[in-house]
Amino acid sequence: MSSTDESPTEALIQYLRADEMLGVRDIPIRLPERAVPGSPRLPQKSAEEVADRDERLGALDAEHVKSCAKCSLSETRTKTVFGQGSSAAALMFVGEAPGFDEDRQGLAFVGKAGQLLSKMIVAMGLKREDVYICNVLKCRPPNNRDPAADEIAACCPYLYEQIGIIEPSIIVALGAPAARTLLQSKQGIGRLRGRLHDFFASGIEGVGPAIPLMPTYHPAYLLRSPGEKGKAWSDLQAVMERLGLPMPKK
Ligand code: URA
Ligand code: SF4
Repeated sequence: MSSTDESPTEALIQYLRADEMLGVRDIPIRLPERAVPGSPRLPQKSAEEVADRDERLGALDAEHVKSCAKCSLSETRTKTVFGQGSSAAALMFVGEAPGFDEDRQGLAFVGKAGQLLSKMIVAMGLKREDVYICNVLKCRPPNNRDPAADEIAACCPYLYEQIGIIEPSIIVALGAPAARTLLQSKQGIGRLRGRLHDFFASGIEGVGPAIPLMPTYHPAYLLRSPGEKGKAWSDLQAVMERLGLPMPKK
């Protein structure tokens, strides 16, 4: 299906979803996520490829992350939070670290910030199951303090492995710690966001294939500063365009 043969209902739902994400209106009824069932035009992977990725991700979690004690966060965590979603995802979101709810449940982005992330995903015309969601750190820093440099250094090889297994077409880095880690930059998120960067899975600038990466504001920041949601939405629209997803009507 191309963006030109979208039904009016589909376009209307996407328009309302974007308004809901932006906080322009609360939609009192439960809208179907998409009028037309099934994922929009995202690169598809074969069942064998998906099974292979699931197995490799599962092994990384079970054999390395769940028992990890490479940094002191292992002493205070309740559960590790590996990340979840489709191992065949074309789009991957990377946040900072588990918070209170994530640490309890062992799942990424399930608290208040996660609810806004869900709205952002749905506004893009996708479902959470279509994408992959994880964090730079797999364990919660006490009282949600900022991740320390040594914790990021200890943990980010897991993230690089996840990216290497999933091979997403595009990555969205949510907030400064994720953007700075993946781009090896010291710039603020306000400077980094708004344009696509090259992420090198090799960890070395210019070496190996690059994956486009869009830094944007973290949903927890957007909850505190709702006036910035429009900028985040324009970042996500650039990601949609890059993925060839149907764009909301202007
Ligand atoms: N904030 C994050 O960065 N990640 C989560 O999983 C939850 C909140
Ligand atoms: Fe290991 Fe990462 Fe947890 Fe530290 S934060 S203990 S490196 S999984």
